[in-house]
Amino acid sequence: MQLINGTEIATQVIEECKRDIAALAAAGKVPGLAVVLVGDDPASRAYVRSKDRKCKELGLHSVKLELPATTTQDELLQVVRDLNNDPAIHGILVQSPPPKHIDEAAIVRAIDPAKDVDGFHPINVAKLAIEDSSGFVPCTPLGCQRLLIAAGVETSGANVVVVGRSMIVGKPMAMLLMAKGKGGDATVTVAHSRTKDLAAICQRADIIIAAIGRPEFITAEHVREGAVVIDVGINRVEAPGTEKGYKLVGDVKFDEVAPKCRAITPVPGGVGPMTIAMLMSNTIKACRQASA
Ligand code: GUN
Repeated sequence: MQLINGTEIATQVIEECKRDIAALAAAGKVPGLAVVLVGDDPASRAYVRSKDRKCKELGLHSVKLELPATTTQDELLQVVRDLNNDPAIHGILVQSPPPKHIDEAAIVRAIDPAKDVDGFHPINVAKLAIEDSSGFVPCTPLGCQRLLIAAGVETSGANVVVVGRSMIVGKPMAMLLMAKGKGGDATVTVAHSRTKDLAAICQRADIIIAAIGRPEFITAEHVREGAVVIDVGINRVEAPGTEKGYKLVGDVKFDEVAPKCRAITPVPGGVGPMTIAMLMSNTIKACRQASA
């Protein structure tokens, strides 16, 4: 069993980013990323902080906006418009999910597609579907694809089951894997909460992408001997007696699934670090395309 080390592979991506940033700096350009958080969800706050920290570490221009939970739709739209018009900002990310009174789809549509480093804007969703490489692909599925490539997992012709149909992971993951080329050319099945006989469908998979957002949902019965499993889940579950009072578990019951796998990602240290690395990479791409 091969443990796919996301921390190590993310470090390689970050090293590539550093080279790209140095080349841009030589041309007098500094990529800028704005991360907007509305409200005070602790997990979201932690993600936003780590994105900001990674930007600073790389020498990117980073703007972190932490807005109160009472921020109105109009106020948030204005923040997005201001960032659209700010030439020092090449990437804009509004942390999901926002508070319930915010219409998230309308906010996403307000982001300039050329600055939409999350790849959530309809223009970028369409570009992924038509395989136009000038678009932005959501960071988490992009990171999963990169993990498969770096771990030497052949996707061409492989049966891949994506468990989860979210706009952030499941749907773009399926499109990436079925696209032509490296890390693609797969035969993709998308399963979700309404899927009948999920275990039987997963049993046919050479590769399982677990992105259903339920702690330890994928168990040994879902996985055939020799499969590759990518665990996208980051679930906080109570852990009394620990310092934080919680621990992080994936969507996969690691202890019983790992022994059956050819390769598997751990949680933490699998997909998580890749997401931030791909965000940095998308921000550099946005900067490059802005000045092309
Ligand atoms: N919430 C969880 N993952 C993401 C992500 O990739 N982007 C944004 N904006 N919000 C998220």
